[in-house]
Amino acid sequence: MEGSPVAENEKTNVNERKKIFVAGATGSTGKRIVEQLLAKGFAVKAGVLDLDKAKTSLSENPALQIVKADVTEGPTKLAEAIGDDAEAVICATGFRPSWDLLAPWKVSLSCGSGMVEFLIYA
Ligand SMILES: NC(=O)c1ccc[n+]([C@@H]2O[C@H](COP(=O)([O-])OP(=O)(O)OC[C@H]3O[C@@H](n4cnc5c(N)ncnc54)[C@H](OP(=O)(O)O)[C@@H]3O)[C@@H](O)[C@H]2O)c1
Repeated sequence: MEGSPVAENEKTNVNERKKIFVAGATGSTGKRIVEQLLAKGFAVKAGVLDLDKAKTSLSENPALQIVKADVTEGPTKLAEAIGDDAEAVICATGFRPSWDLLAPWKVSLSCGSGMVEFLIYA
């Protein structure tokens, strides 16, 4: 109906929305990014380390898909997780403390570089 306050995310069918892959979606930054993308009418594929944690920390939404994605597991696995329908990847990963001195580098830079046209770092 003309002039009715229909929210942007209700205008398009879930399957017609542009999909964004968010790595590190359970983190404090990632969660906010996911919420904002859904509110703006995007579909979101949330890449997470822990599916159970994601189910409790991300709210249910028909436009939200949750997949396991460890960005340090290599490009093949990460590409499988991202899939072929994501318009962009947003990297909101942050490393966990570990003995691996390269962990911060791996977690930040393995985030889909070279796999997608648009790669955005939080
Ligand atoms: N531009 C800005 O203004 C701004 C502001 C704040 C933060 N940031 C950046 O955003 C990033 C995240 O910060 P944050 O404070 O949100 O950190 P955080 O709360 O610790 O979240 C980090 C996220 O990364 C996930 N993660 C860790 N290792 C991973 C791996 N190997 N593969 C996939 N996911 C992995 C964590 O999963 P688990 O929850 O399962 O551990 C968690 O979801 C950092 O790079 C930070 O510099 C930018």
